[in-house]
Amino acid sequence: MKILIINGSPKGKNSNSLRLAVSFVEGYKAKAEKNGAPVSVEQLDVAALKIGACRGCFACWKKTPGTCCIKDDMPSIIEKELEADLIVWSFPLYYFNVPGMLKNLIDRQLPMNLPFMSENTSGTGSGSHDARYDMKNTRHVLVSTCGFYSAKGNYDSVTNMFDHFLGKGNYETVFCGQGELFRVNELSDRINQYLETVKKAGAQYAEGKISEEVHNQLRTLLYPKEVFEKLADADWGINKETGEKEPEDLTFTRQMAALYNKNSYKGKDRVLEMRYTDVGRTYQILLGKNGSEVYTDKSLKATTHIETPFDVWKSISRGELGGAEALGKKLYTVTGDFSLMMDWDKIFGSNAVGTGDDSNYTDSGKAALKNPSMTTMLIPWIAFWIAVAVNTKVGSIVAMAICALVPFIMRKHRFVIWDQLSIAAVAVLSAAANLTGNSDLTTNAGYLIFGIFWLASCFTKEPLSAAYVKYNYGGDKADKNPLFMNANYILAACWGALYVLTAVWTFFLRKAGFGNILLVINNLVPVVMGIFTGWFVKWYPAWKASGK
Ligand SMILES: Cc1cc2nc3c(=O)[nH]c(=O)nc-3n(C[C@H](O)[C@H](O)[C@H](O)COP(=O)(O)O)c2cc1C
Repeated sequence: MKILIINGSPKGKNSNSLRLAVSFVEGYKAKAEKNGAPVSVEQLDVAALKIGACRGCFACWKKTPGTCCIKDDMPSIIEKELEADLIVWSFPLYYFNVPGMLKNLIDRQLPMNLPFMSENTSGTGSGSHDARYDMKNTRHVLVSTCGFYSAKGNYDSVTNMFDHFLGKGNYETVFCGQGELFRVNELSDRINQYLETVKKAGAQYAEGKISEEVHNQLRTLLYPKEVFEKLADADWGINKETGEKEPEDLTFTRQMAALYNKNSYKGKDRVLEMRYTDVGRTYQILLGKNGSEVYTDKSLKATTHIETPFDVWKSISRGELGGAEALGKKLYTVTGDFSLMMDWDKIFGSNAVGTGDDSNYTDSGKAALKNPSMTTMLIPWIAFWIAVAVNTKVGSIVAMAICALVPFIMRKHRFVIWDQLSIAAVAVLSAAANLTGNSDLTTNAGYLIFGIFWLASCFTKEPLSAAYVKYNYGGDKADKNPLFMNANYILAACWGALYVLTAVWTFFLRKAGFGNILLVINNLVPVVMGIFTGWFVKWYPAWKASGK
């Protein structure tokens, strides 16, 4: 089958809309070929073709039926249209319609119609002209971006025209607002997310039609209105008050500030101070309850100070350089409140995704499981240590029952290997306690195994604690953050060592007849370790980031 992309943007290959069209076709092609239908794709860049305006002479109906009197690229375009099984009309919205050059192409399709008056079957308007060629099986998709924050309400003229031209309901649409954001590399995470949805739409279309769920996702704004409008205003690089051109680093800082997600506000204003060492300028971004504001006069008291060459910061924002990796290499330093860095993805960036034109939009149909929780791993252990200590026979049965119930109690969460290993280990230990009636030996073996789990995880790609807490630090991305990973390796080693030592001292203190003080020690020490953990996870990255 043949797909013809008609790229009607005057910007040719640099078109924002074309990125969507290409993603759509990629999705279509992959799905169609998987289903055994080879696909060939041809793209016509209208801006690079010679297409004169229709002269209105009707020579193509009267003098030379089916052939236009203008000698340019149009006859070969018509030929390609006739051969295509799917035509993807890709264009920007210009003055609420298609750009003039695409309208020229559409006008020049007159030879594709017969001159005679016929009944209107398009569902719109009055008169009609029958098609000269049979194109009943040709499918059509309109793909377009526009400059306002939403596509909603801006495409009435376009759909009216195509309703007349192709017939109401005879074509699909993918319309997206905030089109100029598609060329901003710093926003690639959100843009790629949207393009993936467009690809999905293409794949669904290859098998029939785009689902309502995907349509809803396509209608979701790239960013909320106020974030987009701030981004768009900053992008011009012109001071709003003076109309003067601003330096690139200030424009960039304003765009960064525009991405501030005010829902991340935690009850206290923060001031992020950016000092660009290579250009010698400093800006402050006030992150408040109602939004962000950029200060150029250094009049605020900074809560977090970043010292970086502008080029480095730009590369990080574009995703060319990992932020954590650059920090590890001391390409920039951070002083002051480091929690802002740890929460960066929540404060700035794609978490600020728009809520959509449709207020009832939900992310997707699949029941998404919650992130893994350390509670899943801890429930069996705590139940075992308490229940077996209170009453070996009954307690061990209770612990086994809890092991069996954990998958149900925590069913809304994804499980990780440490959850499964813990359930299995506690089940075996409980069975052993029940059969032998020896609670001392089995609870102590529990300490040892629990400690070994933590220590063993230090020899894997992801220390035990990281498997759970990484979701607070950007998810899988946190695995590439050396500060996060090192802090977790150190903590996993500390917890592992603590529980192995607990097993050792428990064994010896019981033997020496001091078993009664174990109740205090074995409960107090993890509490102290917990307090240390809370302090360490904040102190360690901040200490490393300050470049000391
Ligand atoms: C002459 C002109 C007219 C435009 N008219 C509109 C418009 O009516 N509504 C709108 O939302 N955007 C409008 N825009 C913005 C473009 O639709 C937007 O920049 C689009 O993403 C460009 O897509 P392209 O890169 O595929 O050409 C206009 C842009 C230009 C240059």
